[in-house]
Amino acid sequence: MERSMHLTVNGKQTTLITDPSRSLLDVLREELHLTGTKYGCGKSECGACTVMIGDEAVRSCYEDVGDVKDRAITTIEGLSSGETLHAVQEAFLAEGALQCGYCTPGMIMRTVGLLTVDPRPSDEKIISWMNPNICRCGAYPKIMNAIRRASRLMSEVTSK
Ligand code: FES
Ligand code: FES
Repeated sequence: MERSMHLTVNGKQTTLITDPSRSLLDVLREELHLTGTKYGCGKSECGACTVMIGDEAVRSCYEDVGDVKDRAITTIEGLSSGETLHAVQEAFLAEGALQCGYCTPGMIMRTVGLLTVDPRPSDEKIISWMNPNICRCGAYPKIMNAIRRASRLMSEVTSK
């Protein structure tokens, strides 16, 4: 049954009337027109739909919107500050860590989640953390380079 709820997405509060059992992914794309978050499998198996909820990278196809209505949600559209890209976005661009780009928003958001909990991850940690996110183009080596670069960039900023 539909009901009114508040959502905080990319720092902005919105009110919408919807069924709380709809997926967050569906609401982001269809109601809020934030189409940077991608629909891949719809079954929590590919990671294309990853967003941040608070400090945690989650799969928006598997979250009911009613369960996240009081949390701060960040999508790929909310990462940059105006014209300034987030360090993870910058690193993916610099390393050319994409081919078709379909998995990229999810890869970037999952990387943000990783660097939030572990700013200097080992290669083993990067591989195990990113393992649930699938890139059909096989851009994995460049994605690894991008994550290493993002980690360096972010630690340079914090050590200044
Ligand atoms: S679309 Fe959500 S994990 Fe694949
Ligand atoms: S760049 Fe095409 S799916 Fe990853």
